[in-house]
Amino acid sequence: MARISAGVATSHVPAVGAAIDLGKTQDDYWKPLFQGYEYSKQWISENPPDVVFLVYNDHANAFSMDLIPTFAIGCAETFKPADEGWGPRKVPDVSGHPELASHITQSVIQDDFDLTVVNKMDVDHGLTVPLSLMFGQPQSWPCKVIPFAVNVVLYPVPSGLRCYLLGKAIRKAVDSFDRDLNVQIWGTGGMSHQLQGPRAGLINKAFDQSFLDQLIEQPQQLAEMPHLDYIRHGGSEGIELVMWLIMRGALDQNVQVKHRFYHVPASNTAVGHLILEH
Ligand code: DHB
Ligand code: FE
Repeated sequence: MARISAGVATSHVPAVGAAIDLGKTQDDYWKPLFQGYEYSKQWISENPPDVVFLVYNDHANAFSMDLIPTFAIGCAETFKPADEGWGPRKVPDVSGHPELASHITQSVIQDDFDLTVVNKMDVDHGLTVPLSLMFGQPQSWPCKVIPFAVNVVLYPVPSGLRCYLLGKAIRKAVDSFDRDLNVQIWGTGGMSHQLQGPRAGLINKAFDQSFLDQLIEQPQQLAEMPHLDYIRHGGSEGIELVMWLIMRGALDQNVQVKHRFYHVPASNTAVGHLILEH
């Protein structure tokens, strides 16, 4: 049977992708950040997934004001890197896993979560930057990826609790897939940041560290935090953190922290990163 073996959380800052693509990872500004992912690259080479279920948000690239699904699951064979205004990143196309994606869709919708099925979609930095951080710059990505896009761009956004419970439904779906697959679930985005308005540039280290602590130890309690508190304490784009609760909901109550990393600055955000095993 398929099983979820681990969860990964990471920020998906677009400038981090540019630093990789432009060969700047050893610059003074970026070096400490990339050092925080050295362990992760080693860990994933020793624990290679067959499939990554990658929770991220699209940033008005695949979707626009014309059409904004709350939860969208990518069921295609392949997904191309999106052109976000500077041409698509020169990273490999993403290979999906249509059979597992369709199985999860069936199971999760029967468990009362309304998913939008997406059979054609370009994937933006929200998805490709985490792949680069974890896998570096391979010729092709070493595993299949199921893109799972969450709307955190236009209000209303899903609550943390809904995301956490959705994670549990995804776990149940993976556990009932009749193929021997090692699946990891990744939650991306965050941590505190605000890109616009009078509070642009906001970073809240105390909020971020407390979020990491609670995500590990008390996820159910954390899931009850109202969405306005993410914005109040973590800035308008801090709401991306609800996606980490989907990852956490798909893991056991007790988890082992394999890696924890936190770094400021990275572009306009605080970068957070966790690797959790059952
Ligand atoms: C930045 C961070 C993000 O998560 C994002 O989606 C866009 C921009 C930033 O730090 O600039
Ligand atoms: Fe983002």
